Amino acid sequence: MRRLATLATAAACVAAVATVPARADGPLYTRAGASVEQRVNDLLKRMTLAEKIGQMDQIAVARVQGDCEWSGGALNQACLKNVLVDNAAGSVLSGGGMGPAANTPGDWAAMVNAVQKYAVDNSRLHIPVLYGVDAVHGHNNVLGATVFPHQIGLGATWDPATVKAAGASTARSVAATGIDWNFAPVADLARDQRWGRYYETYAEDPLLAGTLAAASVNGIEGADGAKRVAATVKHFGGYSEPSNGHDRVPADVSLRYLQDTLLPSYKQAVQAGADTVMVNSGAVNGVPATSSKYLLTKVLREQWGFKGVTVSDWEDVRALQTRYRIAADYPEAIALAVNAGLDMAMEPYYATAWSEGLKAAVDRGLVTVKRIDQSVSRILALKFRLGLFEHPYVDASKADAAVLGADAALARKAAAESQVLLRNEGNTLPIAASAKKIVVAGSYADDINDQAGGWTIGWQGVPDGVALPGTTVLAGIREAAPAGTEVVRAKTDDEAVAQAADADVTVVVVGEKAAAEGSADSPRPELSAGQQALVKALKATGKPVVTVVIAGRPLVLGDAAGTDALLMSWLPGTEGGHAVADVLFGKVNPSGRLPVSWPKDLGNEPLYYQQLPGTNGGPESSYDALYAFGAGLSYTTYGFDAITADKATVGTGSTVGLRVTVSNTGTRDGDLVVPVYVSRPTSDVLAPDRKLVAFTRVALKAGETRTVRLRVPPGVLAVTPGDIDGSAKQAVERGAYTFTAGQKSVAVTVR
Ligand code: GLC
Repeated sequence: MRRLATLATAAACVAAVATVPARADGPLYTRAGASVEQRVNDLLKRMTLAEKIGQMDQIAVARVQGDCEWSGGALNQACLKNVLVDNAAGSVLSGGGMGPAANTPGDWAAMVNAVQKYAVDNSRLHIPVLYGVDAVHGHNNVLGATVFPHQIGLGATWDPATVKAAGASTARSVAATGIDWNFAPVADLARDQRWGRYYETYAEDPLLAGTLAAASVNGIEGADGAKRVAATVKHFGGYSEPSNGHDRVPADVSLRYLQDTLLPSYKQAVQAGADTVMVNSGAVNGVPATSSKYLLTKVLREQWGFKGVTVSDWEDVRALQTRYRIAADYPEAIALAVNAGLDMAMEPYYATAWSEGLKAAVDRGLVTVKRIDQSVSRILALKFRLGLFEHPYVDASKADAAVLGADAALARKAAAESQVLLRNEGNTLPIAASAKKIVVAGSYADDINDQAGGWTIGWQGVPDGVALPGTTVLAGIREAAPAGTEVVRAKTDDEAVAQAADADVTVVVVGEKAAAEGSADSPRPELSAGQQALVKALKATGKPVVTVVIAGRPLVLGDAAGTDALLMSWLPGTEGGHAVADVLFGKVNPSGRLPVSWPKDLGNEPLYYQQLPGTNGGPESSYDALYAFGAGLSYTTYGFDAITADKATVGTGSTVGLRVTVSNTGTRDGDLVVPVYVSRPTSDVLAPDRKLVAFTRVALKAGETRTVRLRVPPGVLAVTPGDIDGSAKQAVERGAYTFTAGQKSVAVTVR
C-alpha cells in the first residue's frame, strides 16, 4: 500500500504541474517564445558564480537516496538540499542501475519527477536538472522494460533502420520515466577481443560503427516520447584499443591511426546531431582524454563543429589528480579538464568538493569566468532545447503502460536480424518440421541473465535475486517447435550425450557470463574447457549438432569448432529466445553478417580485417580469421552480379557513385547486406587489403535481381598523408582505386 500511496501522491503532484505554464510576464528566460540564445543570455546574467559552477556538476542519484552513500532507497531531503540547492548541481544520473526502492517504471518516473521538482521548486532560479541514464540496449535498468540486443548484435544487422528504431523505442521508454539524457550510443570500435567493452560497440569497422551510431543518435534524438531525450556519443575518443586489451589502460596510437580509423565513427555520430558527447576515461598517447585540448576543442569543436555539451565519464576529472597524477590537487584537475574543453563533470559523489574545487581554480586564476560561461551556456541551451523549463515532469501514472514490454516485436526482429549463421553443413538448419526429437544442451540455453548481458538492471548484469522477465533460448525452442516434436532439456553433459543418440538434432548453447567494463576483460577470449568438451562429445555421437553462441564477442571455439551448424547470437536480450528459435526453425531467414572478426586461436588480438600489409610471413601473422569480417550465411543463395561506377575518373573532392546488381538465386526470400570494399594497387601510405566504403541492405524475393545505388563520399576515402608523424590533414590520395562487391570489381581513378 505504501508504494501505491507514494505513486498516487507523485502522480497527483505531476498531474498538477505536468507542464509549467509559460509566464508572459516572467523573466525573459522563462518565456518559451524567446529564442534559446536570448533565454541563455538572460538566465546567465542572473546567475551567481556559485550557481554557474553548480551547473557543470553531475551527481549520482545514490548521493541523494537513503544514507546518501550506496544504500539507495527513498530520496533524502537533506541530501537533495545539499546537492540541488546548496551546490546547485545541474545534473543527476542513475549510473549503472541506481533505481528507486521498487524497480518499476512508475517508481522510476516518480523518483525522477521528485528530484526534478526539488530542483525546480527550491533552486533560486528554478533551473531544472538534466537527468542521465545508461539505456544502452533498451531502458535496461528498469525491470520489465524490453531489453534489446547489445550493440555488437545490432552491428551484425548492418541495418541503420533497425538501429534507429531501437534507439527511438529506447528513448520513448526513457522519456516515460522522466529521464531526458541517454548515455548512448557507444561509437567506440571493437578492435581487441580481450576488451571488456567489445560488446558495447557496433563493429570493428569505422564506417559500419559510425553509420549505426549515427542511426542510433537519430532514433534517440528524434523520438516522439513524453519528453525529448538527448543522445550521447561515447566514449570520445580512441577508447577502444587499450594497449594490453584491459579496460581504461592507456592507448598509444599514431595520429594517422587515430584520425583515419579510431575517430571517424564518433564524427559520424556527432554530425548526426547528438546533443552531448561523453569523454573517454582512458589516456591517448600519454594524455588523458578528459584533459586533451586536442580532442575536446581542436577536433570536436573546431574541426567537427560540435556545439553541444561534453560530459566526463565517472569520476574522471578527479582521476587526473588521483590516477593519472597530472594534477597536484582537485582544483588543478578541474582546471585541466575545463580548459581542455570539458563542460560537465560526472563528479559523481561530492557536490561540495566540486563547488569548492572549481571556485578555488577561479580564485587561483586557473580558470576564467568567461570559460565557465561558455560551458554553462551550452548546458542551459541544452535544457532549453529539451523543453525542460516548460515540461520538467512526466505523468508517472502512465509509465508502466509505456515501458513494460514495449516494442517487444521490434526487439525480436532486431535480435533475429542480428543472428549470424556461420556454418550450416548439409543444411542442418532450418530444423525440419518432421523432426521428432530435439535435445537442448548447454548452460546458456536457459539463462536469461547472461542472454541479456551486462548493463541490465545492474551495472554488471542482473543482480542476484532479481527475476528478469524474458524468453530464453530453451523457452523459445519449446514454443516454436512443431507439434509432435519432443524437446528434451539435457540437464547435464552426460545426459546431453545420451539423449543425442536418438535425436534428430542437438542444439548446444554455449557462451560467457554477463559482465561490464574491466570485469568483462578477457585475456583468453575462448570457450571454456568444459563447454569445449561438451561440444566435442556431442560431435562424437555422429548426430547433427547445432552450436549457438551467447556472448559479447567471438570466442575461440577450440574443440567446439566444426559442428554441423554454428549460429552467433551475441547478447540478444529478453526476446532473444524467440529470435534464435525463429532462425533455427526457419521462420526467419538469417541475414546477419559479422561486424567483427572471429579469431581462429588465442594470442592474435587485436584482430581486425583492416590489417596493414607487412613483410611478415606465414598465414597466422596476416589476417587469418576463422570467420572474416562480413561473413554470414543464409537459407537462400545470392549472386553479386555486377558493379559499375558513374565515372571512371573523379576529382579528390568527388563522391564516387556506384551501382551494384545483386540477385537471390535461391528458393527463399531474404535480406541481403551489400557491402562495397575498396582496395588500392599502390598507395602513398599503407592501406589494408580491403576497406569498407559503402553498404546497404536489400530485400530480395526468391529469384529476384535488383540494382542498388551506393555512394562513397571523399571523407570515406581520405587518409592522413605524409610521414610517420601523421601531422598532415586528411586528404584523398590520387591514383587507382578498385571498388569490389562480392567478386565483381570496377576501377576508378582519382585525379
Ligand atoms: C561508466 C561508463 C559509461 C557510463 C557511466 C555512467 O563508467 O564508462 O559508459 O555512461 O559510467 O554509468
